[in-house]
Amino acid sequence: MRFFATCAKGTEGALRRELSALRLHAVRGERGGVSFEGKLEAGMQACLHSRVAMRVLLELGRFPAGDAASLYDGARALPWGDWLTDRTTLAVEATVRDAPALSHSGFAALKVKDAVVDALRERLGARPDVDPKDPDVRVVLHLAGGEAALSLDLAGEPLHRRGYRAVTGVAPLKETLAAAVLSLGGVDPGLPFLDPMCGSGTLAIEQALAARRIAPGLSRPMGFQRWPAYRGGPQSAWDRLKEAARAAALPRAPAPIVARDLHPKALEAARRNLAAAGVAADVRLEAGDAREVQPFAGQGTLCTNPPYGERLAGRLDGEGRGEGAPREARRPPGEGRRRERPGGAPEDRREAATRRRKLEGLYRGLAEAVLRFHGWSAVLLSGNPQLERSFPWAPEVTHRLWNGPLEVRLLRYRIP
Ligand SMILES: C[S@@+](CC[C@H](N)C(=O)[O-])C[C@H]1O[C@@H](n2cnc3c(N)ncnc32)[C@H](O)[C@@H]1O
Repeated sequence: MRFFATCAKGTEGALRRELSALRLHAVRGERGGVSFEGKLEAGMQACLHSRVAMRVLLELGRFPAGDAASLYDGARALPWGDWLTDRTTLAVEATVRDAPALSHSGFAALKVKDAVVDALRERLGARPDVDPKDPDVRVVLHLAGGEAALSLDLAGEPLHRRGYRAVTGVAPLKETLAAAVLSLGGVDPGLPFLDPMCGSGTLAIEQALAARRIAPGLSRPMGFQRWPAYRGGPQSAWDRLKEAARAAALPRAPAPIVARDLHPKALEAARRNLAAAGVAADVRLEAGDAREVQPFAGQGTLCTNPPYGERLAGRLDGEGRGEGAPREARRPPGEGRRRERPGGAPEDRREAATRRRKLEGLYRGLAEAVLRFHGWSAVLLSGNPQLERSFPWAPEVTHRLWNGPLEVRLLRYRIP
């Protein structure tokens, strides 16, 4: 069987390393993910152990599909009866690129759904129902350059939903991106760790899970558990994998992990998320300004995702609202549209200049604090080039990543 694990752009290298470490076969990095081969169990392993993968897809077939008719015919010829019955619900999700005759993904998904339903009706005399919200089987169509690839999604809910995010906090990193930052930044799970601007705690939680070798997929259901092939057959493969994963977990993180933030709401979100992730005893939470932080060990990693700027207005002194809150909320009624005028009103420009100065001050203070951590490494996820300018020397590693639609840079410094 051929699988394709998807991940955020820029994190393919980290995912390839993970899947190779699981000793999966034919592991190959591609754009947006990594392919590998094996039995269904190999896909289960990726779901259970990968910290970086977003989804794990089992490829059922590839065929030329230049138009709706060839998409329907190709899809109908696949062995759907092996994976669905007339009593399983399904949903089809499509991504379409460079397909002039099939540019609407909803239409392409509909064609595939028709093909699956018709194929099963012919074989079983009855058809399965569609449930777009909570299907038993998720069918994924990827159509690009005249070729269709049809797959089943083993994970169901995307794998970044580990099940521990009780509270979102301000501008949280996706769990999978946080794990990729740790991996690409070369963070040693056995050494002390500090996130001085932890927000909802994602980096510290992912560090604690890695340090304790807790498989990220242990505490959540997977999509394949609802597949008829799984329900009808022996469940031992998944049970065995989970049992082995539980046995490999360490009772405590081997080194201290500290998460700090200036904002009480962020700390409260982090506290609840840590508890939900089962790593509350491994992470010390501290209230305080990142600019005043001091090293608590001779070596370790300071790893953080500082505010990017624009969207954090009013938060840089730690007094404001959440990053996601609309800035207009602070304006008197009726003044919200002023910002849209070219150049902006004078008070808007003044406000923007003040914010910029505050951010520059924050970055300078953070850089000064980082430079106190002799013998440590610093891994920063930067969404603003000003952060890099605040350091007296160039990072030893830079890596381009995407935090959703935002291009960001991972910077790694070694502090002599
Ligand atoms: C982009 S968010 C971090 C998000 C976090 N990585 C997560 O996954 O939830 C930046 C955080 O920096 C915090 N912050 C801003 N200024 C700070 C300062 N001077 N000292 C400490 N924390 C600060 C904010 O409260 C916010 O939680």
